[in-house]
Parts: sequence; structure tokens; C-alpha cells
Amino acid sequence: MVNLDKYSSIFIANWKLNGNSSFLKDYYEKLKVNSNNCTIICSPSIYLKSLKRNNESLFCGAQDVSSYKEGAYTGELSASMLRDNNIDFCLVGHSERRQYFAETNNIVHIKSSNLIEKNIIPVICIGETLEQKEKNLTEEILSTQIKDSIPNLANHHNALIAYEPVWAIGTGLTPTLDEINQVHEQIKNCDTKFRNFRVLYGGSVKSSNSNEITELSQVDGCLIGGASLKVDEFNTIIS
Ligand code: 13P
Repeated sequence: MVNLDKYSSIFIANWKLNGNSSFLKDYYEKLKVNSNNCTIICSPSIYLKSLKRNNESLFCGAQDVSSYKEGAYTGELSASMLRDNNIDFCLVGHSERRQYFAETNNIVHIKSSNLIEKNIIPVICIGETLEQKEKNLTEEILSTQIKDSIPNLANHHNALIAYEPVWAIGTGLTPTLDEINQVHEQIKNCDTKFRNFRVLYGGSVKSSNSNEITELSQVDGCLIGGASLKVDEFNTIIS
């Protein structure tokens, strides 16, 4: 398993359903990894094997994994298949999967356990909708997601948490810096076992706001969607 303690910050590019072979080639020619930070590229799974890990601080991550270990489940990829292909990280419970693919906290829990058993670090995504935020339910929603989706065997060495407010994803909107820091603090304090977890922020991170977000005392890195598709922009964020 990757030793997260070696890195001061963690940056994850989530390409979502974007990219092709020539995009990937160009991206890797231009990508400039900073060795102090852990950089993880989550490409669509069909491209994961083509990602060149030419730097000790650069890793591949899957965007999803099956909740099943093996068997008659057409179209699925298991945690052991990811391990077999040297994939060290995997996103789980992204709000797009929760929204479009009916991924529940229980499924996130099962997927996370399967990944940890195979020495793959799950990046467990949580976040509130705008409606929930407006009703002041953020803390309650996040603590339920944490309680129900993070397995007991998870700890700060083998799992990561990503806080992605649903309303901030792809919208250009972000919480204030104070709000981000405060929510990260709440996440780390909702149970003593989460105190040392690394918590990443995601939602409209770009080169113009990434510094001020990563400098927040409770923020341990960022999960980046749209801005990670522009390699120059991503280089600025991770530098
Ligand atoms: P954007 O950076 O495009 O808002 O997406 C965030 C995200 O969903 C990363 O997982």
C-alpha cells in the first residue's frame, strides 16, 4: 500500500468520462509532478494500464470498482483486478455515482472494504446537496455518510476522505475558505478514529483558488475534475 505519510499534500485528477489515447500521450508528456506531493490520475479504467508511472510520487487511480469480488457480473471490474494491474487508489461514492448509478452508503462501505483488503486506498467521497446545505443539514448528512460508508477497517494509512459539496461540482461555486476549513474539521472530529485521516476538498478547484484552499489547516489536498483535464492548469495546481 502507498505510504501516504511521505507526502505533504495529495492531488487527485478525476478525468471522469473524458480523454482518449492521444489526449493521454500529450498529457503525460507535459505533466510535471512535484515529488513532495502525491499525485494520482484517475483516468477511465480502459486507459489505466497506459498511464506511465515515471515518478515515485505519481499513481493511478480507478474511478470505481465492483462491489462484487468475482462471478457473473457483466461489465464489472473487481478490486483484485485493480490490484493485479498495480492500481493503488480508487474513488468510491462520488456524488455522480450516487446520483446516476444509485450508489448507496452501504455499497460504498462494501467497495471500500474490498479495496482495503487488496491494499488499494479508497478515496471515499462525501458531500451535501445545495438543498441540504440551505436547510443547515451539512454536518448531519456528512456524519451519516461517514458512519455508514466508511468501514471499521479503514484508518488514516489505508483510506482517504474527499469532501465534495455536490453543489460545487462543475459549477464554479465553492464554499468560503472558512466553511471548507470548518467542514473538514467537523469531519475529522466526528469520531476520534477520523482525527488523523487525510481529507481532500473537491468542487470547482482551479489554479486560481487551489493555493488558498490547500493552505487551509484542515485541508490535505484536492480532488479536481474539470481543471485536471487541462494539463498546464493541473501542473500549476500541483506545483
Ligand atoms: P470539478 O472540479 O469539475 O468541479 O469536479 C470536482 C469533482 O467532481 C472531482 O471528483
